[in-house]
Parts: sequence; structure tokens; C-alpha cells
Amino acid sequence: MKKIEAIIRPEKLDDVKVALADKGYIGLNIVGVTGRGVQKGIVHAGRAGTAYSVDMLPKVKLETVVIDANVEEVVTLIQQAASTGNIGDGKIFIIPVEDAIRVRTGERGDAAV
Ligand SMILES: Nc1ncnc2c1ncn2[C@@H]1O[C@H](COP(=O)(O)OP(=O)(O)OP(=O)(O)O)[C@@H](O)[C@H]1O
Ligand SMILES: [Mg+2]
Repeated sequence: MKKIEAIIRPEKLDDVKVALADKGYIGLNIVGVTGRGVQKGIVHAGRAGTAYSVDMLPKVKLETVVIDANVEEVVTLIQQAASTGNIGDGKIFIIPVEDAIRVRTGERGDAAV
């Protein structure tokens, strides 16, 4: 099992959720985050030649745990649905998961995901 953590644009969340659900990937968490990538946020042009910078931008983190066989499909679905082609589109991390337990039944591992 792997946990896929995708940090994406908030306005792309619905597209990503639909793309995943269409392929049967339902279970997930959404967390609001603020973060920055290599551009360290953005600089806005203000009035009269002033400028102000925003260091940390609002993003959403989508977390979903999937069996190993589904990792590549889920990553591709998220990447394609979240992409605009512009800087700040986000990042996807893949993290090993030791085990999972469905509380209702006690099922373990792949059967619990
Ligand atoms: N190395 C990182 N570790 C953890 N979170 C990150 C990392 N890089 C980016 N993020 C998160 O992802 C969000 C979007 O990052 P962003 O898409 O700007 O990455 P980037 O590497 O700068 O790529 P791009 O050049 O396309 O903008 C950030 O606001 C932050 O929340
Ligand atoms: Mg960036």
C-alpha cells in the first residue's frame, strides 16, 4: 500500500475528485494547507508601482491510500486532472504504508483499503 499525497490548486479539487471517482477511487481526505514551491510564492504588482509578495499560497492536500497495483493509475489521474500547465500546479508524493485496518470488520492490509 502507498499513501498518495497530492498538493493541488483548490480550484482543481472537484475535477480531481470526479476523475478519481469515475475510476472507482472513493476514499480520500482533503486538508487545506498553505505552502510554497520553488518560486517562493508570488509577487503582485500593486498601485502606483508598489509591489507586495505573498510567501505562502493556499492549496489543498488530497490524501488517498491505495494498493500498490493502483498507484500509477491514481497518480496519472490526479496529475492530468490537476494540471493547468502553469507554475504552482502542485506536487504529488508517494509514501509507503505499513498496514491498514478497517475498524468495522478488523480486515487488514489490501483488503482494508
Ligand atoms: N518540496 C516540497 N515539499 C512539500 N511540499 C511542497 C514541496 N514543493 C511544493 N510543495 C507544495 O506544493 C505546492 C505547489 O508547489 P508548486 O507547484 O509551486 O511546486 P514547484 O516545484 O514550484 O513547481 P512549479 O515550478 O510548477 O511551480 C506548494 O505551495 C507547497 O504547498
Ligand atoms: Mg512553484
